[in-house]
Amino acid sequence: CDFNPISDLTATEVREFLCWLTAPAAIINKAPSAGLFDGQTDENEMGVSYAAIDKYIKTGRASERDKRIIDRYHRRSEHKRVGVKHYKEKEGDSKMEKKGIKPEDLRPESMERISTPELAKAFIDEQVKALREQIGDKKVLLALSGGVDSSVVAALLIKAIGKQLTCVHVNHGLLRKGEPEQVVAVFRDQMDANLIYVDAVDRFLDKLAGVSDPEKKRKIIGKEFIEVFAEEAKKQDGISFLGQGTIYPDILESHGVKSHHNVGGLPEELNFELVEPVKLLYKDEVRLVGKQLGLPDNMVYRQPFPGPGLGVRCVGAITRDRLEQVRESDAILRDEFAKNGLEGKVWQYFTVVPDITSTGIKDGKRTDDRMVIIRAVNSVDATSATIEEIPYAVLHVIVDRILAEVPGINRVLYDLSPKPIATIEYE
Ligand code: XMP
Repeated sequence: CDFNPISDLTATEVREFLCWLTAPAAIINKAPSAGLFDGQTDENEMGVSYAAIDKYIKTGRASERDKRIIDRYHRRSEHKRVGVKHYKEKEGDSKMEKKGIKPEDLRPESMERISTPELAKAFIDEQVKALREQIGDKKVLLALSGGVDSSVVAALLIKAIGKQLTCVHVNHGLLRKGEPEQVVAVFRDQMDANLIYVDAVDRFLDKLAGVSDPEKKRKIIGKEFIEVFAEEAKKQDGISFLGQGTIYPDILESHGVKSHHNVGGLPEELNFELVEPVKLLYKDEVRLVGKQLGLPDNMVYRQPFPGPGLGVRCVGAITRDRLEQVRESDAILRDEFAKNGLEGKVWQYFTVVPDITSTGIKDGKRTDDRMVIIRAVNSVDATSATIEEIPYAVLHVIVDRILAEVPGINRVLYDLSPKPIATIEYE
């Protein structure tokens, strides 16, 4: 998904934001401006990011006054590095978010936040009953990526309807080390699910060969995924429903700002009715439900991972050897973060291998090898990010291991760029 909230802001919305910025805190607290920033009284909860304002200027819509305020905003140190929390994560559900959402997709005000194992259990019991009623003796198909949302939906459906569910796991070759194996181990071996494992690695990588434009890469991956899934679906008899890991922020985002890959992203021609048991839940609630359903911690508390997977970290045209370098270096980084207590502390961390080489020396001989870039960021909702200060001792171990264990790498870099101005991913 694309977290960029920028281009869809209207001039009025940006102006409201600018007025808000210049108003003293006391006034804001007493009389929050109407609309987009409704009721937001805390700087940490402001609605628009620094990058949004930059883009606003670039589109040529800013007046001279706007520019002066923006300039002041840029110079205020507290705004310089850390962006702000975008409204999509706010639970207040502003009017804008609710506009156009079907009533059944709206979270009722009375719905209690799932914050304890007991509440998670109650939700599961209620959903199992509702799913059995909705599905009866019919069959459900689910694309299971191994991410939190689809895994929780799979576990809920397995509990409710067992073998009436068929999960399809498409390995597109862009997953992290050990992920496809874990999906099979958890769902087929432990939960005894009907799981179709599709090895589509060659198919994806062949289509991606020589393609360096990031958007083209994303489109190929998305389109190919739908094709592979649709092919598997057509092989199945008597499927009536399609399970989906839609969660509440997906619904809010797809109506407020942008369309989301989880909402209506799968083949419409298949004509299935949707089953979306966690569509009214926030991410933290989905995790609690997953934990209660017995999913492993590294699945439930998985860091954000882009749909196009390692493809966006293999910068430029994807080659198998560079993809392997990304996968192996990422596995080392994750291993060392886990060993050094950074796993649950850092929001997102990964490695990137750009399509360039530099000079090195190995066994007395000159090398012309690639480099690994380490990225480790903290964020609330991905619209802005700060850099984690990794202890040097840990960095040294990671560097030594990557240089020793990953073939074709002669240099390791640590990226210190916050978002904005950089983005979290490289493509
Ligand atoms: P950026 O790079 O825009 O990333 O700062 C923000 C967050 O979004 C994730 N991301 C994606 N997720 N499909 C996804 O599902 C994508 O194409 C994609 N690109 C970025 C990224 O990992 C980060 O958490």
